[in-house]
Amino acid sequence: MKIRDAMHKDAATIASIYNQGIEDRSATLETQLRTPEERADWLTTRDSRHPVLVAVNDSGSVVGWGSLNSFNPRPAYDHVVDFSIYVDREQRGRGIGDALLSALETRAGALGYHKLVLAAFPTNAPGMRLYERHGFQFVGVYHEQGMLDDRWVDVIIMEKILP
Ligand SMILES: CC(C)(COP(=O)(O)OP(=O)(O)OC[C@H]1O[C@@H](n2cnc3c(N)ncnc32)[C@H](O)[C@@H]1OP(=O)(O)O)[C@@H](O)C(=O)NCCC(=O)NCCS
Repeated sequence: MKIRDAMHKDAATIASIYNQGIEDRSATLETQLRTPEERADWLTTRDSRHPVLVAVNDSGSVVGWGSLNSFNPRPAYDHVVDFSIYVDREQRGRGIGDALLSALETRAGALGYHKLVLAAFPTNAPGMRLYERHGFQFVGVYHEQGMLDDRWVDVIIMEKILP
């Protein structure tokens, strides 16, 4: 498996993997499913400080993606960056999320970021395990922050100061 920068041709697979995460209801408060065209447009809006990476297996298939996302446009926040990671449902639990997070951390460091932050569901066991193993620290919980399918959802905030 290798990690590389996403290309326009990856848009359909990125949309498909993202939609699995949206449909699972275990990863994100996003509820709007994406299309290949929408993700292609999204890729063109990314600047060099907010890259999208993909994990490609030995057969050449994209099996996961991760992105560095703007946390806040105010210049004082320039050294903080948010991120996303989504792995194909059939490929989870094989270290792909781990590899994508390592790559995102390395890229964030190279881009001069000081800190990575994330918002996740505390019930997302694979996500929590991944972030804890990568040294993310607990910041706090927004209780009943979102409403998904008529249920309140808590959102946990974590951070990691980069070395
Ligand atoms: C969360 C996600 C990105 C993790 O990626 P992954 O490739 O499945 O995870 P990895 O194989 O790298 O495993 C990461 C850790 O989670 C653990 N893990 C994997 N599946 C797990 C499960 N079902 N329950 C508990 N822990 C689990 C692994 O054991 C590993 O910990 P370890 O190295 O100490 O053994 C992936 O499951 C995913 O895409 N989920 C849906 C979208 C999502 O939740 N994104 C994150 C939003 S905040």
